[in-house]
Amino acid sequence: PVASVLEIGGVKIVKDDVVRDDPTNNVPDTIFSKLGVQLHRRAQHPIGILKNAIYNYFDVNYSGKFDKFDDLCPIVSVKQNFDDVLVPEDHVSRSYNDTYYIDPETVLRCHTSAHQAELLTEGHTHFLVTGDVYRRDSIDSTHYPVFHQMEGVRVFSPAECEASGMDATSYAAGDLKKCLEGLARHLFGAVEMRWVDSYFPFTNPSFELEIYFQEKWLEVLGCGVMEQEILKRTGKINNVAWAFGLGLERLAMVLFEIPDIRLFWSTDERFTSQFSQGQLGVKFKPFSKFPPCYKDMSFWINDSFTENNLCEVVRGIAGDLVEEVRLIDNFTNKKGMTSHCYRIAYRSMERSLTDEEINQLQGNVREVAQSKLNVVLR
Ligand code: PHE
Repeated sequence: PVASVLEIGGVKIVKDDVVRDDPTNNVPDTIFSKLGVQLHRRAQHPIGILKNAIYNYFDVNYSGKFDKFDDLCPIVSVKQNFDDVLVPEDHVSRSYNDTYYIDPETVLRCHTSAHQAELLTEGHTHFLVTGDVYRRDSIDSTHYPVFHQMEGVRVFSPAECEASGMDATSYAAGDLKKCLEGLARHLFGAVEMRWVDSYFPFTNPSFELEIYFQEKWLEVLGCGVMEQEILKRTGKINNVAWAFGLGLERLAMVLFEIPDIRLFWSTDERFTSQFSQGQLGVKFKPFSKFPPCYKDMSFWINDSFTENNLCEVVRGIAGDLVEEVRLIDNFTNKKGMTSHCYRIAYRSMERSLTDEEINQLQGNVREVAQSKLNVVLR
């Protein structure tokens, strides 16, 4: 059962204000039910254990200078989430296809960067913000519409930069990379990692750190030197700063060898009992691998079709029983009609599914795809 009123960080949230039948609102019940869960505040959960280990690194290396926030409300204004961090008006991340909107001015934050400006304005110069973030996305083992980030910001005084003898931006960039490499060593010991140049509207230069995991390079954080404009607007004209945003699930998957991102939400004791407070080194032991079951589905799409919308339909019906939704065929006929074939992988982390159950799910998915997305099944 989903609570109808909850409170997060002193903010009262009424379910009917968040989940309602209104075209300017695209938050489904499945997402609402994640508000207030705050996996990052559970000391025995991998996400909470990781948060505390990162806190520990900062406490030790910066003698407690970083202020910590982990209870800021995930419902924020479009201004906080986008405008304040200089996300351009036409940026894709602002679209209803990528972000959960409660109304045209209010969103579920899609990153913890949404809190940068307010905390800078309040005068904080060293801070960490941990929280649940929300993104409409495709479905696979490393993507889930709710995940957790930790934001870090450090503002330098003009004197600190001058003392380095370098230009302020290079100094901040060097310090940032040193800080995050140190963090990676603190968490992982030896691990294969690489820096990749990147782009974010709020930093310049920008970088990403990738870690090698399950035969792939996995992006675990974005960072960079904060755009001067953000500092200027918060009243800091003579400072430089760095910022980073860590994906806690991605890091935890590597650290604890957790193979699928859905497991973080499992309440199965065979998952939860494997972790304990303060224990970073534990490797997750799968409690047995149940086989996936694949179902294909082909349909003619229309102009408004998006993969994210399909994924939300599938997630709405199958919940965490869906492991992956993958486009396996895509063609356009002579009449200009486009057909997509998706392969849906169903798999429970906890038990084996029956044929009957899967057929039922797939039947529902077909029906709802047809009625809600107006696609034409083939
Ligand atoms: N907000 C960015 C993201 O979610 C990460 C980031 C944070 C990048 C801070 C640079 C600086 O992808």
